Amino acid sequence: MDRYRSRDHKSKPREDIQLMCKRDAEDSWEAAEGRKHARPERDVSALSSVPRILSTRAALYERDFPVYKQPVEVGCFSLDSRRTFFNDARQLRYYVEPDRKPKLDLREGYRERYVRRDERVKENLDHLLTWILANRSKLPSRPAASSSLLELDVDIVTWRGHLTKLLTTPYETQEGWQLAVTKFGGTLYVSEVETEAARQSRESRTERHDEMMYWGYKFEQYTCADEVGACPNPGGVVNTNEAFCTVVQTRLGPHKLLFSGEVDCRDPDPLAPPAPSCYIELKTSAEIRMPKQRRNFLRYKLLKWWAQSFLPGVPRIIAGFRDSDGTVVSVETYHTSTIPQIIKSEYNSWKPTVCMNFCFDFLSFAKTAAIEDDPRVVYLFSWEPNRDVIYSVHRDSPYTFLPEWYVRQMMSLPK
Ligand code: A3P
Ligand code: MG
Repeated sequence: MDRYRSRDHKSKPREDIQLMCKRDAEDSWEAAEGRKHARPERDVSALSSVPRILSTRAALYERDFPVYKQPVEVGCFSLDSRRTFFNDARQLRYYVEPDRKPKLDLREGYRERYVRRDERVKENLDHLLTWILANRSKLPSRPAASSSLLELDVDIVTWRGHLTKLLTTPYETQEGWQLAVTKFGGTLYVSEVETEAARQSRESRTERHDEMMYWGYKFEQYTCADEVGACPNPGGVVNTNEAFCTVVQTRLGPHKLLFSGEVDCRDPDPLAPPAPSCYIELKTSAEIRMPKQRRNFLRYKLLKWWAQSFLPGVPRIIAGFRDSDGTVVSVETYHTSTIPQIIKSEYNSWKPTVCMNFCFDFLSFAKTAAIEDDPRVVYLFSWEPNRDVIYSVHRDSPYTFLPEWYVRQMMSLPK
């Protein structure tokens, strides 16, 4: 079966084609967004052969593993406790191994020493765009149509987290997503839009859930030091505004990717391999006691952990398993490269090749759809579990996310 399905309009007169396409776009738009923003607009008459939907059925993506080049770190940046950008590694922390049977109380400090990032503030790709402007001379560029426009020799610019969502889509049964795509200077910029369901869930988060979110950061505080050779400081403040982000370049089939992701810490050994191979991902998870818990862990959690770390080439994941009181009672290391073997023997398990091929095909689909090169145009891709990926087009709408400062500077750059 075809993953892409374009509608067969061959037998219809031209006005009908236009009407049908327009109505379809509006229907999908209403379903996804409940008429909150401006209506999508586009003359799709020239696009009747362009695929309009993408299936997410896992069985369609079971082909050979695509080429995915070893990611190369091209830079990094830091965000401080007030979310200010720095073009350096000042927030990078160093891993300090806890006991194998520790007793780390993840609840400690939740009320007194927890500063949460304001999740209502939508940063879109802004920090990554700031990094691009600050490092443009280091980035590969290609000859541009206009002599003053800097064209990056990159097809896709995005956050690692957005790609993780794409990788896990064929197996996701709970949460949909929306990705805004803008083509500018020949590059597709991909930025997530919070879905209505995600907004409601964020706004109605229980105190228990909020505390459990803290636990992951608290584990980081117990296992990371600010300097090589220093000790962690569990008495400090947990501030989720602070971040260290790596920027990597790689290629998925023909798609040249530039993306950034937050990194928890690095191996403190100065002889460790260069980034991203020295980076370590920290995770927490509930202790596994029953076969069903183990099955769920392998099926759902390891899929997300693998996707998140495989994308930027982070080789090690250190997991703290906590009891029901939020105390970490054991610590295990997972090697990202061996996770596919761990889950292989599970009945009806997820497959890395399905994840990567779906991402590959989504990017091809987005490239085919997003033809107009204009920073004010957004192609909004929407997906809900058990549905196909659909898209609608929006000009000068609230979805526009490439900031003027970025567009202006990219258009007036000395190359
Ligand atoms: P865990 O990973 O131990 O769950 P990350 O692991 O990606 O570095 O994120 C650090 C922590 O942020 C997570 O720790 C978790 O506590 C919190 N977190 C991140 N994404 C989350 C999400 N979608 N929902 C709830 N908590 C999240
Ligand atoms: Mg982590």
